[in-house]
Amino acid sequence: MYRLVFTQVLRRFDAEAVHHLTVSALALLARLPLLKRLLHRAFAPHDPALRVTAFGVHFPGPLGLAAGFDKDAACAEAVASLGFGHVEVGTITAHAQPGNPRPRLFRLVGQRALINRMGFNNAGARAAARRLRRARGVPVVVGVNIGKTKVVPEAQAAADYVASARQLAPMADYLVVNVSSPNTPGLRNLQAVSLLRPLLVAVKEVADGTPRRTPLLVKIAPDLADEDVDAVADLALELGLDGIIATNTTIRHGGETGGLSGRPLKARSLEVLRRLRARVGDRLTLVSAGGVEDVDDVWERLLAGATLVQGYTGWIYGGPLWAAHIHRQLSRRVRRHGMKSITEAIGRVA
Ligand SMILES: Cc1cc2nc3c(=O)[nH]c(=O)nc-3n(C[C@H](O)[C@H](O)[C@H](O)COP(=O)(O)O)c2cc1C
Repeated sequence: MYRLVFTQVLRRFDAEAVHHLTVSALALLARLPLLKRLLHRAFAPHDPALRVTAFGVHFPGPLGLAAGFDKDAACAEAVASLGFGHVEVGTITAHAQPGNPRPRLFRLVGQRALINRMGFNNAGARAAARRLRRARGVPVVVGVNIGKTKVVPEAQAAADYVASARQLAPMADYLVVNVSSPNTPGLRNLQAVSLLRPLLVAVKEVADGTPRRTPLLVKIAPDLADEDVDAVADLALELGLDGIIATNTTIRHGGETGGLSGRPLKARSLEVLRRLRARVGDRLTLVSAGGVEDVDDVWERLLAGATLVQGYTGWIYGGPLWAAHIHRQLSRRVRRHGMKSITEAIGRVA
């Protein structure tokens, strides 16, 4: 049904226009408590066998929505009501900014992929903090992904991230330092250990200072050389970070300028996950994103050592109840393998 709606209707409209319409509809849903609760009861993961605990936070299921959809923390509860086990909002920057000129989001339907060069369009950390402070009507784990404001020079990047962290860490179930988006000039240079170390140290001090100590993760690009993946993993261990999210979008493609997501990213994303697992074992929480399309992909990532899995592009092509459907299939798979909990699958084939 969704496939028909997608091919006959949605794909005829500009991708970003459809995106904004969807976020507005979900933001409206977030303000309808009864409907939201009904949907949550019907579609959120409720099977105890799917529960996962990572860095002290309890997730109802392993599959969450990756950063970039709910950039302004406008609709996390509604997204959770459709079956996601967590929602990563952002990327949020210290200062509001418009992002790059349009068009900046492109569908590659044949490849089940997207290219985007959004450029962190968002209303800024203060506005997001105000939204996140509102009481939640349904339980939802919210990760907050922060990035650098475009006009801030690289030399002041740490202070800019710290400003966001101060506003947002107290409201986040976990915080993510994003140094891997390709659409802010120079951002990915911050993945170099010499620049990343002072940045992470500064943000960690803020995250550690919140009443509940906010867990801190770093999100990396699939285009890092293998040795650089290892170097970031070693740094994360050394600094006592809670985890790594791998991966962001790739710039290795021949299409429009921007980051490529979806099916073509699958192989590299899995490769980076395996490399990280080999390097850090279970000393860090690994969150796998990139080209996850179905239950087999989620299962493969868990076996390879991911505790949590995220998707974005798969949801766009899979339809609104994509995550609910995958969680249901995961429940069956856990039982078929004679497991009591999905956590028994994590790292089995690492
Ligand atoms: C339109 C779009 C916008 C995105 N914006 C962000 C962002 O703001 N911050 C971020 O860390 N990742 C962002 N991403 C990357 C995703 O979070 C994810 O890492 C990547 O798309 C790979 O997952 P996927 O193949 O399931 O889409 C964005 C992806 C897309 C498609």
